[in-house]
Amino acid sequence: MIMPAPINIGFIGGGPRAESLFATTIMNKRFENEFVPACMMDTSEQATKNWQYKVDATYTSLDKLLKHEALDAVLILTPPSTHAGIAKRCLETGLDTWSEVPMATKLDDLFPILDAERGNKGKKGKFAFGENACWYLPIQFAAKLVDDKKMGDLFYTEGEYHHSVEHYMIFENYSGGKALDPEFTKDVHPTWRATLPPVIYGHAAGMALYVINRQDPKDRPVQVCGFGNMKMLTKFNNQNFQIAMLQTKNGVICKFGSGFVLPNNEVRHAMFWATKCYFDATISGQSKYYLHLVPEDKARYPDRHNVKGKEITEQDMIAGGATSAEGGHGGGDTLMMAAWLASLRGKKPYDIGGVKGAEMTAAGLVALESITQRKMMEFPDFTK
Ligand SMILES: NC(=O)c1ccc[n+]([C@@H]2O[C@H](COP(=O)([O-])OP(=O)(O)OC[C@H]3O[C@@H](n4cnc5c(N)ncnc54)[C@H](O)[C@@H]3O)[C@@H](O)[C@H]2O)c1
Repeated sequence: MIMPAPINIGFIGGGPRAESLFATTIMNKRFENEFVPACMMDTSEQATKNWQYKVDATYTSLDKLLKHEALDAVLILTPPSTHAGIAKRCLETGLDTWSEVPMATKLDDLFPILDAERGNKGKKGKFAFGENACWYLPIQFAAKLVDDKKMGDLFYTEGEYHHSVEHYMIFENYSGGKALDPEFTKDVHPTWRATLPPVIYGHAAGMALYVINRQDPKDRPVQVCGFGNMKMLTKFNNQNFQIAMLQTKNGVICKFGSGFVLPNNEVRHAMFWATKCYFDATISGQSKYYLHLVPEDKARYPDRHNVKGKEITEQDMIAGGATSAEGGHGGGDTLMMAAWLASLRGKKPYDIGGVKGAEMTAAGLVALESITQRKMMEFPDFTK
């Protein structure tokens, strides 16, 4: 059997997320002989030192990494405000480019990424958006319900990622091993996580839009409005709870948002309401999955109300055909990288390309604009 040539990957950014995706792609038996850790680049000398035995070459400049011989694809794993500029450069160099969430932190930065990708008319140099939440088991299950025509017509969805990142917000805790409350400690050094508006981060609208797009790949958000407040940790003057609503061209409504400073650790939640289904998934915190499915022969009132909904388990979702795997983020990282690999091998387009990544990211960016301007906003069309 002829083995397909391994794909030479460059890691851009060498922090904890890069470490975890190194484990997923390079140390994972599933991808043996598929990915080669060709090189990495980080602006921190210390980070490049930490990586010197993991990759063939380390760099502190992007220009140098882009000149690395035999580089096929890159993973962008740097802080959010740097993603867009790096993605554009990599795509212009003709590299297949996978990026962490969010795709950009400014709306205007999304279009040049799409232009750079469109400039690569051949197969190479495609953009892939790393919204790993779409590969959580319940989201894959919801997508399977759509594929199997069991969902009906979606009318309301929710995608929420409430995750207290207080332990990451100041350098003293994140890298100094301390456990200070930044609100009550003077002279602390904020990391990028202290000032990132939560609604622009990701893992919220993405989950809902993924399933909405499974129903109609051409559907897209058209209007967004958002709200936010700052009841806890006022020191960094950043709203730490933000919720938004969007409506799509097909009329599907989606509530999404994030809290970054909470009294508890996290609640990740998604919900799908359609003409033949109600699926409510509390993915983390106290995990709970409730499914009410209306079979074809019970679709008329009052039969549909008399169908018994029930709590289901992860095993039920796997038995129902949802894709699952071992690995980081409940196996989602493995599935996401398998999907990227299949696209690099020309087998199947990656689920979330440039336009869909831009829509998932812009959901948060337009919501932030709506919070600032205190009004409903129109949503840009990234397909043009
Ligand atoms: N999908 C997920 O579940 C998930 C989880 C954690 C982090 N993330 C994302 O991954 C990214 C990295 O997260 P992290 O926790 O490792 O962050 P981090 O800040 O701890 O590490 C980022 C690394 O990038 C380096 N860096 C900064 N600017 C750079 C530049 N211009 N060029 C090259 N290197 C640069 C830093 O020196 C650091 O080593 C973020 O975008 C974050 O949003 C996603």
